[in-house]
Amino acid sequence: MASRDHIQKTLPLLRLVLSEAGCQPGEISGVAYAAGPGLIGALLVGAAIARSLAYAWNVPAVGVHHMEAHLLAPLLEPDPPEFPFIALLVSGGHTLLVQVLGVGQYQVLGESQDDAAGEAFDKTAKLLGLGYPGGPALERLARAGQPGRFNFPRPMTGKPGLDFSFSGLKTHAVITLRGAGTDDQTRADLAYAFQEAVVDTLALKCERALRDTGLSRLVVSGGVSANQALRARFAQLAKKTRAAVFYPRMEFCTDNGAMIAYAGYARLAAGQHAQTGLDFKVHPRWPLDAI
Ligand code: KG4
Ligand code: ZN
Repeated sequence: MASRDHIQKTLPLLRLVLSEAGCQPGEISGVAYAAGPGLIGALLVGAAIARSLAYAWNVPAVGVHHMEAHLLAPLLEPDPPEFPFIALLVSGGHTLLVQVLGVGQYQVLGESQDDAAGEAFDKTAKLLGLGYPGGPALERLARAGQPGRFNFPRPMTGKPGLDFSFSGLKTHAVITLRGAGTDDQTRADLAYAFQEAVVDTLALKCERALRDTGLSRLVVSGGVSANQALRARFAQLAKKTRAAVFYPRMEFCTDNGAMIAYAGYARLAAGQHAQTGLDFKVHPRWPLDAI
């Protein structure tokens, strides 16, 4: 279904974007596309369209890593972070802590051992009877929640290391709901406690990463970085550690084409050249430090 959707929507969308930007194909100096990680069908459609356009327009095509694009998205802002920095990437498929030395120089410091942060939001939201995507819906519900009624664990913060594990929080939510019922106030209280636990765990690990590396800039990106409770918690972290925290603007937190374009631009500008020839490859699984 996703592949068919891509086939139907990509070219009309491109036409619309070009016309809204008042841009002619002749002005374009490269075509970037997401080459992975992700669903292979959708990746292949995007890669085929992007590389065909690049061939027809006689410009380079750059296959971009989806998480690299999230990581570089704050560089689209007027006051971008300088390298090096720590990046926390929190999306539906990945939770990654990365040391970023420059474009293409990424060292993964920690990652989720099971569910990604966004996935934990989505699954817990479903338990609470909310629709997809669950993150924004759960955040809205949590606004009516009372602090202190429930207390969720902060997984993997008790031992050293920078990895994450969020699947236990979902189990904790199931057990809590069984004991407390499913009235509106209980659901809101549970959403609040769940969100606090995720956000606090992310902040604790970032604090550790900043301390371990001695860095003082932190980028937070990916769908979950749109969460306001997260941003409030990270403002506290910034105060405590004197680190500067950078986000993409709201519409560039969740998946978007601008971040893919920017990552492609950054690669071309760094002289890291695109694939040549007509063959192409996509990567459903693709470790960030293997690019
Ligand atoms: O980066 P993204 O748009 O797509 C992926 O690359 O996965 O992230 C989507 C994820 C979903 O799990 C969604 O529930 C979560 O980000 N998300 C949020 C919020 N907005 C999106 N989670 C918590 N609070 C939000 N406001
Ligand atoms: Zn994403």
